[in-house]
Amino acid sequence: MSNTQEQKLFIWYENNKRDLPWRKNKNPYFIWISETMLQQTTTTAVIPYFHRFIKTFPTLESLANAKEADVLVAWSGLGYYSRARNLHKAAKQLHDLKSFPTSAEELIALPGFGPYTSRAVSSIAFNEKVGVLDGNVIRVLSRLNNIKSQWWKTQERKQLQSISDEMAQYKNSATMNQALMELGATICTPKSPYCLSCPWVKNCKSLKANTNNELPMKKPKKSFEIYQWNPEVYTKEINKKVHVALIKNDYAPFLKKQWLFPGTISKKSSKPKTFDFKHTITHHQIYTIPKFKKQLPPSLNSKITWVHINEIKKWNPTSLVEKVREKVRTHFCF
Ligand code: ADE
Repeated sequence: MSNTQEQKLFIWYENNKRDLPWRKNKNPYFIWISETMLQQTTTTAVIPYFHRFIKTFPTLESLANAKEADVLVAWSGLGYYSRARNLHKAAKQLHDLKSFPTSAEELIALPGFGPYTSRAVSSIAFNEKVGVLDGNVIRVLSRLNNIKSQWWKTQERKQLQSISDEMAQYKNSATMNQALMELGATICTPKSPYCLSCPWVKNCKSLKANTNNELPMKKPKKSFEIYQWNPEVYTKEINKKVHVALIKNDYAPFLKKQWLFPGTISKKSSKPKTFDFKHTITHHQIYTIPKFKKQLPPSLNSKITWVHINEIKKWNPTSLVEKVREKVRTHFCF
């Protein structure tokens, strides 16, 4: 790639970059939190969650010293709660270090830091000359170079990674990586890209070959699994307040090891005829009918914890559990 080509992208980025809250300074803690959130949601959707999280945990130290339940509550709405647990674990480890590690090689050893997050943080916060590869960058580089590859396979991904690494050598890797992501997010969009507004309109090999709409290749989707879930709601009054029984999930294939209502789960080949509500978590389609129970079976005695109905969110902030809680609330009219 010629320097003029890279320069065109830099000029475009300087004139068009969005004013995002985590771009205001180079605080590695803010950059890490934002990049973790951005792996699952669009930039516009992340902004309010980012503000809320940073207001609750303004520093690495505050996150390291927090209780896990409070971290999960601050994360609620974003899904993928294992990411929040890993953030918390990594914060504790980072807090014990003298300073924030500045290279992707060091960062990748921490919980939740994959190749993308490590490289994004080290390049954006510390200008390490490593390239990132996320969905946006894969799309931009595949189209620019007319590369038809199965990028989700380790071997085939290497070609794109080396192009990205090479581009990160130009001037400033923080700018290059963010410019590539920005171009993918705003111009080189999955459908109907705005090629006439692209700084690389004259360089784009897939546009010339008329293949840009087919690139990048689509990763085959993991097929859905259908489940019928009957959470069992056992209640008990403690100090005149309704409490429900929760166990550490050891029976359902979703929300593993998280606090959950006890119950039964069965895999189905098609959608059940009756259900109260449906909820999807990754590839699990969960058709749910809460069952209100009177007598706690002795087999559950050693597993359960009684949780105040208004505190369930602290134990499990996921939307699925929130939906069951709402059913409990209407069932008991409070
Ligand atoms: N998507 C993920 N991280 C981003 C960033 N730093 N800039 C633009 N889009 C992004």
